[in-house]
Amino acid sequence: MSEQNAKRSMDRRHFLAGAGLAGAAVASSKAGAQTKPDPLITEVQDWSRFLGDGVQARPYGTPSKFEKHIVRQDVEWLTVSRESSVNFTPIHALDGVITPSGLAFERHHGGIAEIDPAKHRIMINGLVDRPLVFTMEDLKRMPGRVNRAYFLECAANSGMEWRGAQLNGCQFTHGMIHNVWYTGVPLKVLLDEAGVKTSGKWVMPEGADASLMTRSIPIEKAMKDCLVAFGMNGEALRPEQGYPVRLVVPGWEGNMWVKWLRRVEVGDQPWHAREETSKYTDLLADGRSRRFTWIMDAKSVVTSPSPQAPMKHKGANVLSGIAWSGRGTVTRVDVSLDGGRNWKTARIEGPSLPMSMVRFYFDFEWDGRELMVQSRAMDNTGYVQPTKQELRAVRGTNSIYHNNGIQTWLVHGNGEVENVEIS
Ligand code: MTE
Ligand code: CO
Repeated sequence: MSEQNAKRSMDRRHFLAGAGLAGAAVASSKAGAQTKPDPLITEVQDWSRFLGDGVQARPYGTPSKFEKHIVRQDVEWLTVSRESSVNFTPIHALDGVITPSGLAFERHHGGIAEIDPAKHRIMINGLVDRPLVFTMEDLKRMPGRVNRAYFLECAANSGMEWRGAQLNGCQFTHGMIHNVWYTGVPLKVLLDEAGVKTSGKWVMPEGADASLMTRSIPIEKAMKDCLVAFGMNGEALRPEQGYPVRLVVPGWEGNMWVKWLRRVEVGDQPWHAREETSKYTDLLADGRSRRFTWIMDAKSVVTSPSPQAPMKHKGANVLSGIAWSGRGTVTRVDVSLDGGRNWKTARIEGPSLPMSMVRFYFDFEWDGRELMVQSRAMDNTGYVQPTKQELRAVRGTNSIYHNNGIQTWLVHGNGEVENVEIS
């Protein structure tokens, strides 16, 4: 260290020593922190004494090394291979309404396709006047580009919880969701360019990955708000999310959001592909299956406290969570601390956009008593998130998909939190 730097850090030490006294003076603030002098205030740390890395040390930024435990995680026993598996968003550790791209859950049926955008084509064919082929550059020249924030929830989110509380963490019970900004071209623009024949009633997007994912989407939805997206949170889509291009189907189950999109066929009836027959259909108690369940109904979860985010302090605390609705806008979220006997309305903080995630907070005092924490979302159609019992009364327990029942977290006196169900 140069003499000058050493002198500067001495001055800083004096300054910080003064700050320490000021710190002690605010000891009675509500969140209740300091009561004794804190050596972390009076001692000078290395990061204040030495220069840090220069600007080119991190050409693409990553989080602080102190945050490296905040990562996507899978549940090994859930799937037989990692190529057809899921890596869950660490929602217990996130805040705000936008999922960071590197933490957005990923679900693949045939691994991550690594596509060279220069070799990628998007075809529109079937019941159209002019079958068309677009390059990525063509797509980026199309008029009508938009930016939209939407949630994507896999229909299988919370699917392991149908027969009772199972996975101990909201990352695993509710982490098949992300909410990001998309940049893309409305699918309608491409379909109009090709000219959909009057007999064209359905579209079938197809992926270029090894799973060749296909789904049937009614033409009304395709024309209303679907996007052919190449951007995510201001940069190119990540490979896990379908680089260079994916379909966005706002409010509808994640499986329909075909990644690595290479073709959209227009037809006059649904195709009944594998993903809409043997999978992603809801088997009812009497053995019949619901044919299509596209819309993801209103749902919410408290992300903190939760099993991976235990309570650490008595006194003032902030409960936090996320809510979303595939039918529109979340208008209200209620929170219960006693297993649904009493409800209070939480504070929705930040943007409340249609088919996009909202963040809620509930400021409360904890006296160390056992809590049964729940949240319940309502949307602008008047829909209220059901309890798990209400859901089972209609759906039975054969289901995997579309579980939007109210989650309960049991907070123990020592602050630990457990996934439970109230019967
Ligand atoms: N598209 C292709 N081509 N291949 C896939 O395996 N998985 C689907 C959908 N689109 C899939 C796909 C499923 S089941 C979901 S939930 C979403 O992509 C997951 O999107 P994400 O990986 O961005 O979270
Ligand atoms: Co899915």
